[in-house]
Amino acid sequence: MSKLFIRTYGCQMNVYDSARMADALAGTHVVTSDPGEADLIIVNTCHIREKAAEKLYSELGRLKKIREARARAGKPTMIGVAGCVAQAEGAEIIARAPSVDLVFGPQTYHELPALLARAESGPVIAADFAAEEKFARLPSPAGRAAIARAPSAFLTIQEGCDKFCTFCVVPYTRGAEFSRPRAQILDEANELAQAGVREITVLGQNVNAWHGTDRAGRPIGLGELLRELAGIAGIERLRYTTSHPRDVDDSLIAAHRDLEKLMPYLHLPVQSGADPVLVRMNRRHTAAEYLATVGRIRAARPDIALSGDFIVGFPGETDADFAATLAIVDEVRYASAFSFKYSPRPGTPGAEMGDQVPEPLKAERLAELQARIEAHRSAFNAALEGRVVPVLFEKPGRRAGQLAGRSPWLQTVLAEGGLQMLGTIADVRIARAAPNSLFGDIVTQPAAAQ
Ligand code: SAH
Ligand code: SF4
Ligand code: F3S
Repeated sequence: MSKLFIRTYGCQMNVYDSARMADALAGTHVVTSDPGEADLIIVNTCHIREKAAEKLYSELGRLKKIREARARAGKPTMIGVAGCVAQAEGAEIIARAPSVDLVFGPQTYHELPALLARAESGPVIAADFAAEEKFARLPSPAGRAAIARAPSAFLTIQEGCDKFCTFCVVPYTRGAEFSRPRAQILDEANELAQAGVREITVLGQNVNAWHGTDRAGRPIGLGELLRELAGIAGIERLRYTTSHPRDVDDSLIAAHRDLEKLMPYLHLPVQSGADPVLVRMNRRHTAAEYLATVGRIRAARPDIALSGDFIVGFPGETDADFAATLAIVDEVRYASAFSFKYSPRPGTPGAEMGDQVPEPLKAERLAELQARIEAHRSAFNAALEGRVVPVLFEKPGRRAGQLAGRSPWLQTVLAEGGLQMLGTIADVRIARAAPNSLFGDIVTQPAAAQ
C-alpha cells in the first residue's frame, strides 16, 4: 500500500471532502500523519480570504523540500492541490509551484484514482462543476467511520451557492447550489449510525437551502429532512451548518420546536448590523429581519444559543455602521462568533467597490468587535457553572483519566471518566468555565456503561 497525507484548510465541508478523498483511495493508499513518509500528498485548500489562500503557497514551499529529500532517497512523491484555491486558480498554481503534479477542484474528487494515473505522465488540471456526479460516485464512508469510531460525524447534504454575496468567492469555487437526494443522505446517515456515530452535523454552504422530495414526491426542505434523520436509531444528536437567514422557513423553526435531538445551537451569520452595508453585501435582508428570525427561533426553542460570522471594514462601512454591528451583537448575545477583516477577493464585486476601508481601521474595529463577542461568550459560559448538562464524550482529554466532550451548545467539556464512556452521553455538573472549555463532574452514568 502507498501512503497518503492530506492537509486540510478551510471549512467543515473541506474536512468532509478530505475524508471522502481518503475513502476514494482506500484501495491503494493508507493515511499517514507524517508527510515525510507519504507517496501522495494532498493539500485541500481554502480561498475565502487572502490569508487563507496564501497558506497554500507557504505549505507548498515546505512540501517541495520534503519531496526533494525523498527524491534523494530514491522515493518519488506526488503532490496534489485540491479545494477552492485549486478551483479558482487552476493552472496558475503549477506556474507558481512547479512541484505540483495535480490540481483538482471540489467537484472532481470521485475521479481521483483516474486523475492520479494521468498525473503519472505530466501535470493535470481538473476543474469541472458537477456536484451530482461527485456524490453519486464517491464510495461509501461506512468503512472509514467504523475504523475511526468517532462519535460525531459530518455529512454534506448541499454544496455550492447561488446567493452571490459581493464579498464571497464560494459561488465561484463551489459552483451552483446543489442538493443531494434525500435517499442518498438517509443511506449515508444510516451507515454512520451503524458504524457507531451518535451525532451528525449536516453540512452545506447554505445548508438550509437544501431541498428535495419525500417518498411521495412532495417537495421538502431541511426541516423535514432533519425530522427523518431524527428517526434513525442510534443518532442522538443533530446539528446543521452553515445556514443563511433568508432560508430559515417555518418547517425549520418547527423542527427546532419539536426535535429533542436537534441541538439548541444555531450558526446564523449576519455579517453586519448596518442595513446600508447589508445592501452593498447583497445579503438581501435587513438587520431587523434578521432579528425577527432570531426571535421566532427563540420562541420555538427558548434554550437555543446563537453563533454568527461578522465582516468588519467592508467597503463604505462608516463608524455608525460599525456601531450598528456592535449593537446587534449586544442584542443577540451570541454564545460565540467568528469575525474577520474584509479581504477583497479577485473577481468579486466587493473588490471593485470604492471607499475601501484602510487596514489599520479594519484592525481597530476587529479588535473592538472581538472584545465584545468575547464578553458575551464568557458570560454565556459562566452562566452554566453549577448547572447539569448532557455531554457527548468524543475523545480522551489531554490529561490521563480525563475525557473531552461537547455540550448541546458545542462547548468543549472536560471531565474525569473511563474510556468506556466514549461515544456515550452523560450528565455533567459544570464546576468551572475556563476561556476555551468547561470543567465538570459526571453525575450520571449512561445506561450502556452501568
Ligand atoms: N455561507 C455562509 C458563509 C460561508 S464563508 C453564509 O452565507 O453565511 C464563511 C465566512 O467567511 C462568512 O460568513 C464571512 O463572514 C467570511 N468571509 C467570506 N468572504 C470573506 C471576505 N472576502 N473577507 C472576509 N471574510 C469573509
Ligand atoms: Fe458566500 Fe453569501 Fe453564498 Fe454564504 S451565502 S457562501 S457568504 S455567497
Ligand atoms: Fe474555504 Fe472553500 Fe470552504 S473557500 S470556507 S474551503 S467552501
